[in-house]
Amino acid sequence: MNSATETNPYELAKVAADFVVDKFGSKHDILAVLGSGWAHAASVLEATNEISVTEIPGFTKPSAIGHGGSLKSVSVGKSKVLLLTGRTHLYEGHGVNSVVHAVRTAAFAGCKTLVLTNAAGCLRQDWGVGATALISDHINLTGFSPLTGADAPEPLHGRFVDLTDAYSARLRKIAHQVDSTLPEGVYMGFHGPHFETPAEIRAARVWGADLVGMSTVMETIAARHIGMEVLALSLATNLAAGISGEKLSGEEVLAIGKASATRVGGLLANILKQIDIESQKS
Ligand code: HPA
Repeated sequence: MNSATETNPYELAKVAADFVVDKFGSKHDILAVLGSGWAHAASVLEATNEISVTEIPGFTKPSAIGHGGSLKSVSVGKSKVLLLTGRTHLYEGHGVNSVVHAVRTAAFAGCKTLVLTNAAGCLRQDWGVGATALISDHINLTGFSPLTGADAPEPLHGRFVDLTDAYSARLRKIAHQVDSTLPEGVYMGFHGPHFETPAEIRAARVWGADLVGMSTVMETIAARHIGMEVLALSLATNLAAGISGEKLSGEEVLAIGKASATRVGGLLANILKQIDIESQKS
């Protein structure tokens, strides 16, 4: 989108939401975004309906390898889940509103819960490659915010969003009911697409990061702004730059993602089921 003709991102998300509700025939409760390594969850959970994101107003087909381009509708217990197989990253160059468009669309299509998944570099050797972790907080090093630009329309109005509880303690507790061994850590979001330097990773450690990656933080900020509760999970596909002495590669990230697919897909499916069970109690 160029600035002269830029559509209001909230209006565009409303148009997209109307399209999705119309195509799927109902509103939904949860949006789950499948990042690198998490795509297997889509086959564990049987979709009742599916659309290509290229059909949905304002969506861009993800260009990152390992990212699919469809939006699926899945029933998990009584909850209706939108599964997005692949996301748009800042480094693809479509602008920050594109990165969070799916989150805003899902919110306008009824979703109150956002479950984000990603592949991440890991600073914690004690967790090891292949570990899955819950994100407890983030450090946004991208230099961007999805709330830049025109103020949101009422009733969203207000840019100065509180992020003290960005990653829901309640949802992390539910995830721990599924797997009590899941570690929690701080995710540092970089713009990418280059990997970090060893010096950046040393700095990240001093700043309190456990995981590094190129997604998630924009989506979380946009979701909190629009009133969604957020759970985020990382798959540690590699030790972060300089820790093992080995070079990093996108292929390695994909290979670990592939090797972990069944395990993390099952984990995500079980967490979604548990979120549904808990939602029936409230
Ligand atoms: N850095 C940033 N993003 C990543 C990494 C990493 O080491 N691994 C997977 N995504």
